[in-house]
Amino acid sequence: MTTGLRITGSGHYLPGPPIDNHALARVMDTSDEWIRQRTGIESRHFCPEGQGASDLALPAAQRALESAGIAPEDLDYVLFNTMTPDYLFPGSAPVLADRLGCIGVPALDLRAQCAAMIYSFQLANALIASGEAERVLVVGAEAHAGFMPWRDWDILAGERNAAPSPEDRERATRHRALAIIFGDGAGALVLERSPRPGCGILALDVHTDGRFVKKLYIPAGFRTRPFISERTVQEDTWIPSMDGRDVFRQAVTLLPQSVRRVCHKAGVTLEQVDWFIAHQANQRINDAVRERLGVPEHKVPSNIARLGNTSAATIPILVDEMRRDGRLRDGQLVCFLALGAGVHWGSVLMRI
Ligand code: COA
Repeated sequence: MTTGLRITGSGHYLPGPPIDNHALARVMDTSDEWIRQRTGIESRHFCPEGQGASDLALPAAQRALESAGIAPEDLDYVLFNTMTPDYLFPGSAPVLADRLGCIGVPALDLRAQCAAMIYSFQLANALIASGEAERVLVVGAEAHAGFMPWRDWDILAGERNAAPSPEDRERATRHRALAIIFGDGAGALVLERSPRPGCGILALDVHTDGRFVKKLYIPAGFRTRPFISERTVQEDTWIPSMDGRDVFRQAVTLLPQSVRRVCHKAGVTLEQVDWFIAHQANQRINDAVRERLGVPEHKVPSNIARLGNTSAATIPILVDEMRRDGRLRDGQLVCFLALGAGVHWGSVLMRI
């Protein structure tokens, strides 16, 4: 039995021009070859100074509403997935809701990092099943530029032909494993109850294991007084701390288990699934997950080469690209899977 939740609209937005790996090598010790080999990433986009997640989310959401053929006032709920909110509080959802013009509609930030889309499917499904909502806008938007470990954005962009100071280069290099993987962007989906029989979420598998919080986190926060100070800058606690190897290991172990579980729950085989739409963190992670599941390459779409890891935005951006180029079609069986800081992870099986 499904609630009949359907994706009826989608949109995405990318800020600025693509920034390739050679540009990153201007501000830290890295190379195009290293980044491609270890991650599959060739370029990414960065949010300009003065803009935040809601600025990226607005055009993505407008495109999603347009493709669903509905107006902002038709929405019953807004879920805003981000780990880089406009403001520490009240986040980004109320900012977006105001700019869309849906005043009075519940709008909240969801903090499940790269796994947020899985949580949003679960929550939207529950809202629709309970009758609390008919139409839910889910947005994933990230402005990671704010935690990038360099200051010389003009050198990086090739606008100034100079070298960063040795201290700045050293700091960026210290954080290079993290800095090369993230990119900015926004994706949005409209989820609605549909009368079409058979469509909707068939099964969910959603988990959190808080023992691994410090494998990927921003150490700065309200545990210190004041919560932001010179020490925050001196000690780099505003830059995420990441144990990349461990996150990699967890992803390639937990995600295949979750996919098998969700298929088992729904009583479908891996062969019956048309698409495995995975969070785009590292091409090598998705290749390893695919190999462990034994599914063919053409069923695991990828856009990480162009966009990097846009955290909460990867799945809605990829869904929008696939709806617009005709790869995603009504009636297909899709498995969404993602893992992110927390550690949160899971998968969703949906007949679209
Ligand atoms: N350029 C060049 N060299 C780099 C580098 C870079 N950007 N980043 C790290 N290195 C170097 C390290 O300094 C280290 O050198 P050493 O052996 O001389 O000490 C070496 O490469 C290996 O570093 P390591 O961090 O172990 O690399 P890795 O193979 O684990 O790759 C990641 C790093 C981040 C690409 C990889 O661990 C990863 O993708 N992990 C998952 C992260 C993730 O998905 N995060 C988001 C979750 S949603």
